[in-house]
Amino acid sequence: MRSNPHNILILGAVTLLNGLATEQTIDFQRVISPLLSDNCYSCHGPDSENREAELRLDIQSAAHESPIVPGDPKMSEFIARITNTDPEEQMPPPDSEKTLKPTDIELMRRWVSEGANHEKHWSFEPPHHHDPPQPSKTNLETNPIDAFVLDTLENTSPTASKAVNTA
Ligand code: HEC
Repeated sequence: MRSNPHNILILGAVTLLNGLATEQTIDFQRVISPLLSDNCYSCHGPDSENREAELRLDIQSAAHESPIVPGDPKMSEFIARITNTDPEEQMPPPDSEKTLKPTDIELMRRWVSEGANHEKHWSFEPPHHHDPPQPSKTNLETNPIDAFVLDTLENTSPTASKAVNTA
């Protein structure tokens, strides 16, 4: 089979994207929430019947009451517990048969240093009002959505032609 040069290009693009992803801030919903859900929520989650130490890690206000100091992993009991190797202190407890990989711990440490946001998935966020931008070619604009389109065109491509008369 001949090697297809496109595959090489695609591979290069994927590698580049992965490289960029490590520079981005940690996404709570995509990265941290699944780790907490697998390893912590059985004892510190929404289910009050099984909650240990009155600690909830699934919502921001409760999680910020003590063990997480946003921006400061060294001062966070949360990080101290997941990095502690003393079986009496270690979280998740060794007898829970849950374990965090070193890479998981590193992601949580980064998440705490970046401010430990618990932002909801965008689909659960109420929509926010955005004022339409004010592109320079306002004569092409017939409704507020055009303003967003024109603004993007102005910032990406040098010309936009007049609307075609469809009547
Ligand atoms: C099997 C149940 C269980 C699981 C799973 C678990 N914990 Fe705990 N956790 C406890 C218990 C019980 C305590 C209270 C005893 C203690 O302080 O060690 C506790 C205490 C804590 C405390 C200290 C709370 C305080 O007020 O001092 C932190 C922080 C913590 N857990 C974080 C975590 C994190 C983070 C995870 C997941 C990576 C996790 N725990 C998973 C049972 C659990």
